[in-house]
Amino acid sequence: MGRKRHMKVFLSFVGVAILFGVFCGGIPAQKLDKGVGPYGEFWKPIPTQRYWAPDYFYSPPEEPKGVYTADECTLCHKALNPGLVKAWAESSHANLDKLLDYQKEKLAEIEKTLGRKLTKVGCIDCHGKVGAEKLDHEKELVMPNSALCGGCHKQEYEEFESEKQYGIPDWKPGRESHAKAYDANLDVDVWAAVDKNIVQGCDMCHNIQHKCDSCHTRHAFKASESRRPEACQTCHNGPDHPDIEYYRDSKHGSIYFTEGKDWDWKKPLKDANYIAPTCQSCHMYYKGQYSHNMVRKAIMGEGDVLFYDNVFKGIKPTDYLRNSKELMARREAWIEVCVKCHSPRFSRDYLDSMDNASDAVFQYVSDAYATIKSLYEEGILYPMPENRPKAPAPVAEKYPDLLGGFYGEFWAKSGNPSRIEKDFLYMWENDAFLVRKGLAHMNPNGFTYLSWSNLLKKYVDIQSEANTLRRLAALEKKAKLRPRTKTKSKQTPGAAGPQQNPP
Ligand code: HEC
Ligand code: HEC
Ligand code: HEC
Ligand code: HEC
Ligand code: HEC
Ligand code: HEC
Ligand code: HEC
Ligand code: HEC
Repeated sequence: MGRKRHMKVFLSFVGVAILFGVFCGGIPAQKLDKGVGPYGEFWKPIPTQRYWAPDYFYSPPEEPKGVYTADECTLCHKALNPGLVKAWAESSHANLDKLLDYQKEKLAEIEKTLGRKLTKVGCIDCHGKVGAEKLDHEKELVMPNSALCGGCHKQEYEEFESEKQYGIPDWKPGRESHAKAYDANLDVDVWAAVDKNIVQGCDMCHNIQHKCDSCHTRHAFKASESRRPEACQTCHNGPDHPDIEYYRDSKHGSIYFTEGKDWDWKKPLKDANYIAPTCQSCHMYYKGQYSHNMVRKAIMGEGDVLFYDNVFKGIKPTDYLRNSKELMARREAWIEVCVKCHSPRFSRDYLDSMDNASDAVFQYVSDAYATIKSLYEEGILYPMPENRPKAPAPVAEKYPDLLGGFYGEFWAKSGNPSRIEKDFLYMWENDAFLVRKGLAHMNPNGFTYLSWSNLLKKYVDIQSEANTLRRLAALEKKAKLRPRTKTKSKQTPGAAGPQQNPP
């Protein structure tokens, strides 16, 4: 590239910098005017969702205009975002001549797929087309999705996509899995209904379906980073999936946190041989191999079947698990992980105790649900569904399965859901599952105080609220304040005014 051209690029950069202020916040309307997925008609994306789900919403900025070469990309962007360019410049992608031995074999494999030699993976390879020499910034710029990375990293991409064939049996096809995580979001009615400035948090975890920079952050894209438990923590934390917290405080975690700094993170997992397990060494392993499919051994999922669907069906966890050939095969695959460091009997006894504990939990969840359902049928839930604001569309109000339904996690208004239902929601969606999760991650406090005890607290609150509601209803009946005694099911929802329920 000649100096004149460099100068031109630099001047257009200055121009762009001025224009930048003008266009900052400008929204190219064409791609942001409607949502996608089964509830797409109910919501509109916000500008940041361009980055969370580029497959659906991305369009390039209006400035700068021009067709640039790879050298020009780095020239401008070095001035604009030095941090980003530094990360890329130090990465393997920019230094294919400095690869480790095992990576050289991977490079050769990739060159075979591409049918040519590769000297560098530059901005255009990822933000335009693999192998292209120039790029029209205003028209051709893309945010790379996993398929684009897969153009070179065929094996990792195929492993990742293969998750779609697994997931939890009896749950929705391919779920739960990273490869369907964004679909899971789009499928949630309350997600579609709620302010996207808030529920974009869901996208920031669930976009793992479309983006490979979740465990290998841009623009360093390091395998060594992704091998450490911290790579999972941004998403696997918090009240509904405290994986990193549970792991951190387990014996496995404490060994990692004290010794891990001396382990060689540059080695592929198969050669690493750590003395304590990590998220990756446990979840990516299957019958002698490590892969990007992390769900082949999954049994509980987020408890959607064990502690939700099966509560309605009255099937207890041990019966469900032990009657499933597929799930029992997954359990055997887990034992193969543990026996690298523990005896078979220790491993089996421990994991069996996790199943048995699930039965104890299940009993409380089932009892609590029966209590709420019966209050509903007696017509004394307060307020009754027909006497309170409806959840916004597309949340379908289908009682009784909506008593304590998931929508209450992210939406509430004037008594909908009532406290007793919210307690039940926390019980099945968080505590029940966390008892099992705590055992799964060998964290003694995780399954005693942190979850079992909380579960009982909600159970007690539900029973005592039920007693209060029943005593009030009896008094109201005696005082003739409450004409209605039987279930609302004969009533048209919404027909009864709030005045029918005394304050
Ligand atoms: C003349 C300077 C200039 C050159 C050359 C240039 N860019 Fe940019 N680029 C910019 C500016 C300025 C922005 C910020 C636009 C904004 O945020 O609205 C930008 C934004 C981007 C973005 C982020 C877009 C977004 O949606 O946030 C990417 C990716 C990008 N450029 C890639 C490239 C690639 C690849 C090349 C080479 C083909 C390149 N750029 C060449 C100036 C340049
Ligand atoms: C190996 C692939 C890869 C290469 C090479 C690459 N990028 Fe990116 N880049 C990504 C990914 C992945 C994202 C995030 C996409 C998303 O969020 O949807 C991204 C996002 C960006 C963004 C917008 C997000 C932000 O944080 O502001 C800019 C700007 C950008 N890249 C510039 C560049 C420039 C300039 C180069 C060359 C120096 C480059 N990229 C090289 C993969 C790459
Ligand atoms: C043009 C081909 C090409 C594209 C496109 C590409 N890569 Fe790479 N990448 C390579 C090559 C070659 C290597 C070195 C061989 C290896 O380690 O697999 C590499 C290495 C890596 C590494 C290991 C780096 C290290 O040293 O730890 C990661 C992680 C990675 N790429 C992720 C990605 C992601 C994510 C994307 C998409 C955003 C992507 N790559 C896009 C060719 C590519
Ligand atoms: C901090 C990251 C994070 C946030 C924020 C988040 N999730 Fe999740 N979500 C996860 C993880 C991790 C799992 C899997 C947990 C497990 O199985 O242990 C999950 C599981 C799920 C599942 C069950 C999976 C399935 O395939 O059916 C659904 C549905 C879901 N999330 C929807 C949402 C919605 C809707 C929001 C926002 C209102 C949200 N999530 C917010 C990380 C997150
Ligand atoms: C949930 C975390 C996670 C996600 C998401 C993820 N990776 Fe990885 N990736 C890893 C881990 C962990 C390793 C190390 C595996 C090993 O050592 O056997 C790895 C290794 C790699 C490597 C090998 C690099 C080397 O030189 O050793 C490549 C290439 C790669 N990933 C590409 C991708 C691509 C492409 C995607 C998207 C389809 C992706 N990754 C998504 C966790 C992840
Ligand atoms: C000692 C091995 C081990 C380690 C280390 C480990 N897990 Fe697990 N994990 C398990 C077992 C066993 C289960 C329960 C499988 C079942 O029966 O459902 C599980 C369950 C899960 C689940 C629910 C889905 C499923 O597979 O059933 C998620 C999500 C999860 N772990 C994430 C993590 C994360 C993130 C880390 C690191 C912070 C981690 N795990 C560390 C063994 C491990
Ligand atoms: C960017 C966020 C993100 C990161 C980083 C991430 N995950 Fe996940 N993970 C999710 C989401 C979201 C789900 C739920 C998928 C769904 O909705 O179906 C999930 C699901 C899982 C599941 C299956 C859960 C089930 O119930 O079957 C496992 C196992 C898992 N992740 C392990 C890991 C491990 C191990 C790492 C780190 C190497 C990791 N994840 C990194 C977001 C993430
Ligand atoms: C890479 C080796 C390794 C793997 C794999 C592994 N563990 Fe461990 N585990 C350890 C070490 C080391 C300890 C610490 C023992 C101690 O406290 O003296 C430990 C501790 C435990 C403890 C606490 C024991 C105690 O005495 O307090 C339990 C329970 C446990 N592991 C279960 C499992 C299960 C179940 C699996 C498989 C899902 C598994 N581990 C996989 C190495 C491993």
